[in-house]
Amino acid sequence: MGDIFILRLGHRPERDARITTHAGLTARALGAKGMLLTVDDKSETESIDRVVQAWGGDFFVRTGVGYRSAMKQCKERGGIVVHLTMYGVNLPDCIGRIRDEWRTSKDVLVVVGAEKVPGDVYQLADYNVAVGNQPHSEVAALALFLDRLQEGQTLKQEFKGGELKIIPTEHGKNVQKES
Ligand SMILES: C[S@@+](CC[C@H](N)C(=O)[O-])C[C@H]1O[C@@H](n2cnc3c(N)ncnc32)[C@H](O)[C@@H]1O
Repeated sequence: MGDIFILRLGHRPERDARITTHAGLTARALGAKGMLLTVDDKSETESIDRVVQAWGGDFFVRTGVGYRSAMKQCKERGGIVVHLTMYGVNLPDCIGRIRDEWRTSKDVLVVVGAEKVPGDVYQLADYNVAVGNQPHSEVAALALFLDRLQEGQTLKQEFKGGELKIIPTEHGKNVQKES
C-alpha cells in the first residue's frame, strides 16, 4: 500500500479555518500521513500538532504549498492524484481502480477544495471523484473516500507515542495517561 496525503486548497481564513482543522483531524484519524495547505496559516499546524502530541502518531501539516507543484510532484514520484468534486465520477464507479493502484504501493494525494476550485485542478488530477453527485462537505467527502479506499481497516490502527489513550468503554469515559 502507498501512503495517503491530503491537499487542502485555499480556505477563506474567516470562514473555512475550522473546516480545514476538521479535514486534518479526519485525515489523521483515517490513516493519512499528512496534510498540505495552500494557505500559509501556522495556526492550523499548531492546532493539529497539539492533537498529535496528546494522542500520538506522526501526522504532519505543511503550509504555504503550491497546489500545482504538489500535484505534479506526487505524479512524478509515481503517485496518483484524486480530486474530490461533486462533478466527478461517482465513487462506487471508480474506487476499485483507485484501490488497485494504491495497493501497488502508489501514494495517493487527495485534493479537497474550499471555495471555487481552479480549473486546472480538474486536468492535473488523475481521478476526479464524486462522493455522490450532490453538493455537501469536504470533510464528509474525505471521510467516506478514505474509508472506502482502505475498506474500514484504519479504524483499528494504533497511534503510538501520545500522552493519552482511550480505553473503549460502553458507558462513560476511560482515558489512560501514558507514562
Ligand atoms: C463546499 S464545496 C465548494 C465547491 C466549489 N463551490 C466548487 O465549485 O468547486 C468544498 C469542497 O467539498 C468537496 N465536496 C463537496 N461535495 C462533494 C461531493 N459530492 N463529492 C466530492 N467532494 C465534494 C470538494 O472537494 C469541494 O471542493
